[in-house]
Amino acid sequence: MEVRSSSYTRLCSTKEILTVNGQYPGPTLRAQQGDELIIRVYNKANYNVTLHWHGVRQVRNPWADGPEYITQCPIQPGKDYTYRVSLTTEEGTVWWHAHNGWTRATVHGAFIVYPKQGSNYPFPKPHEEVPIVLGEWWKENAMEIPGNANKTGGEPILSDAYTINGQPGYFYSCSREGTFKLMVNHGKTYLLRIVNAIMDENVFFAIAKHKMTLVGKDGIYMKPFKTDFIMITPGQSMDLLLEADQNPSQYFMAARAYSSAFGSGFDNTTTTAILEYHGTNQTSPTPILPQLPPYNKTEASTDFTKQFKSLVTKNHPIQVPRKIDTRLFFTISVNLLNCSTNNPCTGPFGKRFSASLNNVSFVTPSIDILQAYYYGVKGVFENDFPINPPHEFNYTGDDLPENLLTPEFGTKVVVLEYNTSVELILQGTNVLASDNHPIHLHGYSFYVVGWGFGNFDSKKDPMNYNLVDPPEETTVGVPKNGWAAVRFRADNPGVWFMHCHIERHSVWGMNMVFVVKDGVAPNTHMLPPPHDLPKC
Ligand code: C2O
Ligand code: CU
Repeated sequence: MEVRSSSYTRLCSTKEILTVNGQYPGPTLRAQQGDELIIRVYNKANYNVTLHWHGVRQVRNPWADGPEYITQCPIQPGKDYTYRVSLTTEEGTVWWHAHNGWTRATVHGAFIVYPKQGSNYPFPKPHEEVPIVLGEWWKENAMEIPGNANKTGGEPILSDAYTINGQPGYFYSCSREGTFKLMVNHGKTYLLRIVNAIMDENVFFAIAKHKMTLVGKDGIYMKPFKTDFIMITPGQSMDLLLEADQNPSQYFMAARAYSSAFGSGFDNTTTTAILEYHGTNQTSPTPILPQLPPYNKTEASTDFTKQFKSLVTKNHPIQVPRKIDTRLFFTISVNLLNCSTNNPCTGPFGKRFSASLNNVSFVTPSIDILQAYYYGVKGVFENDFPINPPHEFNYTGDDLPENLLTPEFGTKVVVLEYNTSVELILQGTNVLASDNHPIHLHGYSFYVVGWGFGNFDSKKDPMNYNLVDPPEETTVGVPKNGWAAVRFRADNPGVWFMHCHIERHSVWGMNMVFVVKDGVAPNTHMLPPPHDLPKC
């Protein structure tokens, strides 16, 4: 894969964007479960870059995971690096994206993992498969968007359009011609492989007059259910069956923000693509738009997500840890703090935004944590990330004390013993404002055994956990002013990033790192680094 700059025209103007192989969105990768992919990435751009294979566990091989300064130093202009990506249990739609700052705005694509030769989908074989990549377009140079948000605490610039397969669609200026069109045959079933590669918004997505059946999420099959719309967070991918069972005509598919964002707001426009039946009378009027829930309709989001269940079949068993060795409780907050002379600000009211987990705002180191851990380099990170909030408060209350607004800054990790079972409570807070935070864990999938609104109640809530068929995910939307409880077994040694997939939260510090120790039994240790690992 070659990362290079290419010129693209959208919204009536032309600019250079960072691409892979000149494509936007980038090429779709296709492989089978069990394959090992050897992917050589050449950096022909003027910016540093790393690539991440989002949803791939990278068993024992964090060297191929990709997040900048977490598991590798960036690939510098003119250099290359070979990622060895082994597919183990993941099957369905995952994706890949650049994992250094804002580069993923245009450097991303779908990654389809088919069943092994001789095995089948747990649903009838579709007539055709269609990647649907949701993205964003800025008139500005994408690399200027963050405006150094991580350093100066301002807000990144809002995008000018959402996109479906790289196209803003029918309702944006100069965009009608290019609108993505999916041609279907009446009576056939299509598998939509949807990726939310948007930087900063959860979105609702629907197709006029058509129901969809959700069969997979994050590269893991799910118990099928029918739905009129989906809510998909940044970072998530979903497999949806679409039956072409309506009158031969044209219909819009559309996506729009589900946002509880505050302050300068968000882009409330709608991106569209067209679903057209073969044999449609070409003089037909403008297609109709699907009903999408209003941007602030949290119930619509939870009505959808509460239907997520694991498949639980002989071929797709579940292994939810029942006995827990390590309990962790993380608060998720957006902070706003005073600027100082050595901390120049561009945020509102002479203050800067920041974001934190357990009140620690993550500071990106200047050599990667994985190398520091592997070679025992001191002074890069500390292993004292708090496993409980530093102070208790009414997390989701309305008038929270001012002093909660100031986080601590640091590069801190939680060390987990090999093969221990972990329960992690992700508690949203209303410290500055609440939001639906899509929390993504690298190197693992986890079972979402429970979630709810308000503050997690350690006595009552665990009694209602679903330990029978909880959904297995790699990115969980922690509901606005609510919590989610996830469980996983720490059986993948290495250094693994966990962060909010809303990019502005991540650049403000809503990140942390797990270090999972090696086991003692054969084949339970991390693999050695590859020879071409980039240097810092
Ligand atoms: Cu989609 Cu840290 O990644
Ligand atoms: Cu967030």
